This record gives sequence, structure tokens and C-alpha cells, in this order.
Amino acid sequence: MIIKKTSGLQGIVVIPGDKSISHRAVMFGSLADGTTEITNFLQGADCLATIDCFRKMGIEIENSPEKILINGKGLYGLKEPSSTLNTMNSGTTTRLISGILSGQTFQTTLSGDDSLNSRPMGRIITPLSLMGANIKSIRGNNCAPLIIKPGKLHGLHYHSKTASAQVKSAILLAGLYADGMTRVTEPALSRNHTELMLQSFGADIRSEYEKDNVSATASILPSSHLVGQKIVVPGDISSAAYFIAAGLLIQNSELLIQNVGINPTRAGIIKVCQDMGGDITFLNEKTSGGEPTADLLVRTSRLRGTVIEGSIIPTLIDEIPIIAVLAAFAEGTTIIRNAAELKVKETDRIETVTSNLKKMGADVAPTDDGMIINGKESLHGAKLHSYLDHRIAMAFSIAGLAAEGETEIINSHCVDVSYPMFYETLTSVCRQLL
Ligand code: S3P
Repeated sequence: MIIKKTSGLQGIVVIPGDKSISHRAVMFGSLADGTTEITNFLQGADCLATIDCFRKMGIEIENSPEKILINGKGLYGLKEPSSTLNTMNSGTTTRLISGILSGQTFQTTLSGDDSLNSRPMGRIITPLSLMGANIKSIRGNNCAPLIIKPGKLHGLHYHSKTASAQVKSAILLAGLYADGMTRVTEPALSRNHTELMLQSFGADIRSEYEKDNVSATASILPSSHLVGQKIVVPGDISSAAYFIAAGLLIQNSELLIQNVGINPTRAGIIKVCQDMGGDITFLNEKTSGGEPTADLLVRTSRLRGTVIEGSIIPTLIDEIPIIAVLAAFAEGTTIIRNAAELKVKETDRIETVTSNLKKMGADVAPTDDGMIINGKESLHGAKLHSYLDHRIAMAFSIAGLAAEGETEIINSHCVDVSYPMFYETLTSVCRQLL
């Protein structure tokens, strides 16, 4: 994809469904009794991988442009798949499904693409094994491919070292099949979509938060059944992030970004943008299924550097690439720390973000757990790799719109993972067409 500097962005953007919530809706709907109907489902490659895995385990899932219909077979209704489940590029599919598969009476193997098969799975293998699961890394390197054999699960109180919704959710889902209460304590609250949605499906699940979010605990009791639901998926704030950033960064811009999920466990980017001086107005606030949404009106703003650290990090972890782009154009220094989790995303995002920013002439230094960025008034276009990481492709497409000259994003097609219509939508609000 070739991107040129633009003179402004104007118009309305309707944000596609949330990736995390779409995955969970398919998983819980498959395990529920009766029909689950999902509207505004994200038709991205990651979520389609989740559908494919459950279809391979005998669940009928009708996927039409208007809605997804799942004929749930109950907690014990999955069937042994005849081949390996392919989780493609999706960490959420792999980790959450491992919790579910640990409680089944049949054997499964899970494998994904090269990026997925190099991401750490020890973080779920350890707690699930402590619960009694029979889960192993086939190559013995704590990565996928994984083989999961039947095991008898016990309740456990697990203290997770990282605030990770994927780890928390894998354990809670295994907890549906355990013989007592399962609890997960994490050092800061990670996204809580599993807790909210499992509760609406009828699971006995609770959350407790320490003051100032210093730690959070979710507990679940084993369930005899879940009940099919109607789910309206809110727009994905992680996808909205590129348009929020573009509207703030690019001169002469005003964007109305509609249907953005603003769950506080996800909305750290809004606070950071406001701390940087961003002009963001909330309109039309609503709540559906416990998930708040709003339309965001975003206007060009003079941005300044900030410090991003501590318990806000899990609430914006996927948005750090685009926040780093904003920081590279802001006045003053931005420091991002306590974000070592960036190293184990679809790529090592400390490395991929800082090397691409440097190619554009930015003043940026990677650190062990984040980066330090000294903003500059202008950056120049460059030939950049997406490294097949959807968030790198999108973040640097926005950087390309703000930089002088021309930027090329190599392998930009990977945006399909979470935002298949990204370039069409971006083109529709650009004064000059891409
Ligand atoms: C996700 C949790 C986060 C996030 C990922 C989606 C989820 O990962 O980065 O894109 O849907 O639970 P971690 O749990 O590894 O932090």
C-alpha cells in the first residue's frame, strides 16, 4: 500500500465489531444450550478462525452479513475434530479455546501460523496443568502446536504474573468444567469481556477489584449449563484508535467515529490522547450487555508528550503502536514503560514500532519494557514492513498520512486480521484519495 501525506480527514467512520467480544460470543454461544444470535460480528480473519474451530467440533454456525446464528450444543456437546484445529494468527482463539478443550473428554491438537506458533503458551500451560489439565507443547518449547488430552479439572486460585485477559479467560473457561471454585488474581485489571459476557450466559462468575486497581480477582463456579443469548457486538476501540489518532494528528481534520466500545478496561487510549491535549468529545453514550459505547468527535489538536505506565498499560496494550506514532509527532518527550508484554504480541512491537519510526526519521529509543520518544515537527515517508502484524500496518499507514512524501507499507493485507475494510474506510475520509 502506498500512502501520501494528506491535507485533512473529514467525515463519519462506523467502527466494525470488537475482536475480543466477537471471539467470546462464538465460543460461549457454542457452549450454550439453544441459539445465540450475534450482530455486528467482526468478519476478521482471527474471528473466522474461531468459527472454523467450533465448526470442526460439530457446532452449526450460520454466517451471513447481517448476523451469526449459532446452534449451541451445551457445555458437553462438542465433538472430537477429525484434524488439527487451525488457530491461524489468533492468540485469543488459541489461549481461550485451550481452557475449554482442557475440560473435554476427547483429544485435540491446536496449531497456528509461524507468528502464533512462536508466541508463549507456557502462561496457559502452567495454570491449566495445575488445574489438572493434560496439555503439552508438542515441540517442548512452551509454544503451539499444543496437544490437549482429557483431564480431570480441579478448582484453583491462580496468581498471574501478568495482567492478561487471555490467561485469565483460559483459566475461567476451564473453571466451568472444574470440581470447585476457580479464581484468578492479576496484578492489574485486564479486559473483562469474559466476565461480563459469561455472566449474561448464566455462569456464576464474580469480580473483585482492589482499590486503585492494584490487583483484580475473578472467580467462577462450575456450571451445569449456559443459555444462548442475543449479542450486539460494540465497535472495536482498538480499530477506532487509528481514526482517533488520525483525526487528532492530521491538520484540518474532524471525524465522527461511531459506535466505539468504551469499556474502561479498554479505553486507556482515550485518556492518553486527552492527556496529550487531544480534543475528543463523547456523544450518544449507551450500554448494551454491560458494554458501554459512544460516538467520538475528534478534531485536530496540538499534541504534547506524556508518561504512560502502570495499571493503564493493560487497558491500551494493543494501541501502543499508534500511540507511539502520535508521540513521534507530539511536542516533547513520551515515555512508555511497564509494557514488556509488547514483546510477545503478533510481533515484538517494541522492536517493530521503534525500527519503523526510526526509518521515518523519528527520535526514538527502545527500552526493556517500552520506549522513549522525543517528538518532532515532521517525519518523512519511508518503505516500511508490516512484519505481517495488522496493528503495525495500520499504525504506520496513519504515520504515512502525516509524514512528508510517500510511505509504502509492505504486506499491508494483514489488516484483514482485525479490520478488513480499513483502507476503504480510510480512503473514504481522506481529502485526497489514497
Ligand atoms: C485479548 C487480550 C490481549 C490483547 C489481545 C486480545 C483478548 O492479550 O492484546 O489482542 O481478547 O483477551 P493479552 O491477554 O495477552 O494481554
